[in-house]
Amino acid sequence: MQRIFLKGIKGGTGATSMVANLSCVLKRSGSDVIAIDLDSKSDLGLHFGLPWKYSQGWSNVDNFEEALQHFHIDSDGIVFLPFGDKTTKTADIFNTVNNCNKLDYKNNTWLIFDCPAHIDITLYPLTKNDIVVEIVNCDAICHSLIYKKLQKLKQADNQWKHFFLVNRYNSASTLEFDLFSLWQSTLPLVAPFFINSDEVIKESTAYRNVALNCAPYSVANDDFETLAGWLVSKSAL
Ligand SMILES: Nc1ncnc2c1ncn2[C@@H]1O[C@H](COP(=O)(O)OP(=O)(O)O)[C@@H](O)[C@H]1O
Ligand SMILES: [Mg+2]
Repeated sequence: MQRIFLKGIKGGTGATSMVANLSCVLKRSGSDVIAIDLDSKSDLGLHFGLPWKYSQGWSNVDNFEEALQHFHIDSDGIVFLPFGDKTTKTADIFNTVNNCNKLDYKNNTWLIFDCPAHIDITLYPLTKNDIVVEIVNCDAICHSLIYKKLQKLKQADNQWKHFFLVNRYNSASTLEFDLFSLWQSTLPLVAPFFINSDEVIKESTAYRNVALNCAPYSVANDDFETLAGWLVSKSAL
């Protein structure tokens, strides 16, 4: 089993869309995938076909045994757990992460967490086999946040594998090109590829689905396949 923690370095960078699209590509390549929504916006399930008004999830129950009733399976066979609509403490989120270790896995299962942007990833119960991917956009705010995060990581003396990944890259923007080139030449933790900005991501969400099912030959879908292959190379699976 390989745990992946996907988190935006700030809100709205595209973390949830990435969890959903990556899950689908990994599932289609033959692995089992379990996706867990840790963000109180509880919008991951929308990418997997849940109705717009669906509001239940693990936060609505008192213990993990009851939360098992809230797992769903989408039409591709991805198992997922929505957040729900109750207020939680940060400790509840970390308990849910730990409780997921008790699930019954096959060896080649990917356990992918959609983490909220506002909780520092260095506080999570992480181990040395975990992979953390912080999603960034190519802009000046993320530039500043990456450097601050790198300082924090030094202090945390982290054991897990930590990366930054550029999402919603606009190839027509000179600023984005310059920032990406700068990060590539100076920051080894920035992944050596990006996920392009692609309308297909928004359109497939409007169908409560993912790019692979709505536009299999899209740029974005190629990018998610690159991401999946790169994660396989970093994983212990
Ligand atoms: N690669 C992309 N290209 C175009 N739009 C994207 C891309 N990734 C995400 N988006 C859009 O950005 C918005 C925020 O995405 P979301 O996944 O909800 O971010 P987060 O979970 O980080 O808040 C959504 O409208 C989504 O469709
Ligand atoms: Mg989100």
